[in-house]
Amino acid sequence: MKLDIAILGASGYGGGELLRWLSTHPKMNSLRGTARTLAGEPFWKAHPNLRGVIDGDFEEDIDWKAFAKVEQPVVFAALSHGALAEKLPELEAAWKSAGIADRLQLIDLSGDFRLQDPAIFAKAYKKTHPCPELLPRFVYGLPEWNRAKIPGARRIANPGCFATALQLGVLPLHGLKLGFIAASGATGSSGSGASPSEGTHHPLRAQDFRAYKILGHQHLPEVHMAMDAVGVEGTFAFVPQSAPMVRGIFATLMFPLPEHIDAKALHARTEDTFRNCPFVRLVEESPKVTAVTGSNFADISVAAKGGSGVVMVAIDNLCKGMASQAVQNMNLALGLPETEGLKVAGRFPA
Ligand SMILES: NC(=O)c1ccc[n+]([C@@H]2O[C@H](COP(=O)([O-])OP(=O)(O)OC[C@H]3O[C@@H](n4cnc5c(N)ncnc54)[C@H](OP(=O)(O)O)[C@@H]3O)[C@@H](O)[C@H]2O)c1
Repeated sequence: MKLDIAILGASGYGGGELLRWLSTHPKMNSLRGTARTLAGEPFWKAHPNLRGVIDGDFEEDIDWKAFAKVEQPVVFAALSHGALAEKLPELEAAWKSAGIADRLQLIDLSGDFRLQDPAIFAKAYKKTHPCPELLPRFVYGLPEWNRAKIPGARRIANPGCFATALQLGVLPLHGLKLGFIAASGATGSSGSGASPSEGTHHPLRAQDFRAYKILGHQHLPEVHMAMDAVGVEGTFAFVPQSAPMVRGIFATLMFPLPEHIDAKALHARTEDTFRNCPFVRLVEESPKVTAVTGSNFADISVAAKGGSGVVMVAIDNLCKGMASQAVQNMNLALGLPETEGLKVAGRFPA
């Protein structure tokens, strides 16, 4: 199978990571990317790390009729939140008229199509969904949870970065009535995207550590979806934090453990949960953000003592939390080996 790939919003951080991962994917035949402000400029203008690695210029738009001639069209949407939902009805019409709507693989990195219920979407994102009729077409793409639903899915909503870390943290707790889970998640500044903001401004951020969106982060409904699906009962209280790093998420989940589960049992159920998950590594002591930086791995460790349980998860927000997870979903959806083009070690030290 030859993959011809278009990235919408290729000049952002997610777009740059997609270009990096896909440029070495063994099945990649052609790679193109759109951007508004940098249209006509080479990819390296936004992503200097790609200079000499991949050629190509940002395009203003994709000619879908021409794109329709390829064997397997794949589209990644790495647009700012809300932009794909505004455009998708028009894009679907263009894909239909080009005769590729059914075989085109779309993977969206934004939060636009992750929540199936428009009312939950409106509450999380504080706006009405512009095309709720398209929500049911999307399959949620966290392979460690719903791997079975991804093969053959032609529209995939890639999970949020915090959602990925937190969901991986709750999966080993399947079937447990916990009452309360207290979670914190420290993220690097790249989580806010390429446009400068107060939350990414170096002097304000580089040596600070602070909480934000306390108990109200928009990824919580994604966590609830996974909890409901695997039968974890309990209030989930989440405090996101800005950490003085560029990439990475470190999530900690703490909960009271039922009497019958000791440290050994918690470890065993975690091992069992991720037995067939090539990108989850169960580690001793603490996971390290640096060990997963630049990779698709999620490192997880667990601890239990005196009735308290802990799960810790480290991922790279731009990789397992976004771009490389999207490639993992593409592989699974198209029937390729899950690890194709993705078995890359993180950088250590960072
Ligand atoms: N950063 C993370 O850690 C992370 C993790 C998981 C998911 N996500 C989600 O993934 C998506 C991409 O994130 P990012 O961090 O890569 O964002 P980003 O760095 O801000 O990049 C956004 C891209 O979209 C383009 N764009 C923005 N608004 C547009 C519009 N209305 N129409 C067309 N193009 C538009 C931008 O370029 P032009 O403005 O020049 O066109 C740029 O190429 C977001 O929805 C984000 O929520 C981010």
